[in-house]
Amino acid sequence: GAPVEVPVSSLEPGAMVRVIWRGKLVYVVRRDKEMLARLSQTTDLLRDPDSAVVEQQPEYAVNEYRSVRPEFLVIEGSCTHLGCAPLPQFQVGPTDDWFGGFFCPCHGSRFDLAGRVYKGVPAPTNLRVPPYRFVRDDVIMIG
Ligand code: FES
Repeated sequence: GAPVEVPVSSLEPGAMVRVIWRGKLVYVVRRDKEMLARLSQTTDLLRDPDSAVVEQQPEYAVNEYRSVRPEFLVIEGSCTHLGCAPLPQFQVGPTDDWFGGFFCPCHGSRFDLAGRVYKGVPAPTNLRVPPYRFVRDDVIMIG
């Protein structure tokens, strides 16, 4: 499959676009400062906060943000349980243990704003980060 270019200059902070790369659904999220600040609050709730499972992301995405640049998250929209598309839920919920991220409607797996899986859900690993790079300051190339 061919690489896919995603222009991100018109993507608002807090917004997400869906693209298809090699037949797979990929999410590109522009995280604002407040969303980035929430990443450090989830650590104790996560199964793999440090992205230790190597096949779930390229090496350049092994960091707290799981991304090349903190502002932009690029992840596959495929739940690591059985492949449903997790839904973006970026608002903070009414409970103390939800800091926004992605919710899988099939069996209730939850992921944070870096696609890191919560403990105690069916999904075994973090959402996968596909290979990508910035070909310009405001254009991401996936693949
Ligand atoms: Fe997502 Fe089962 S497919 S929780």
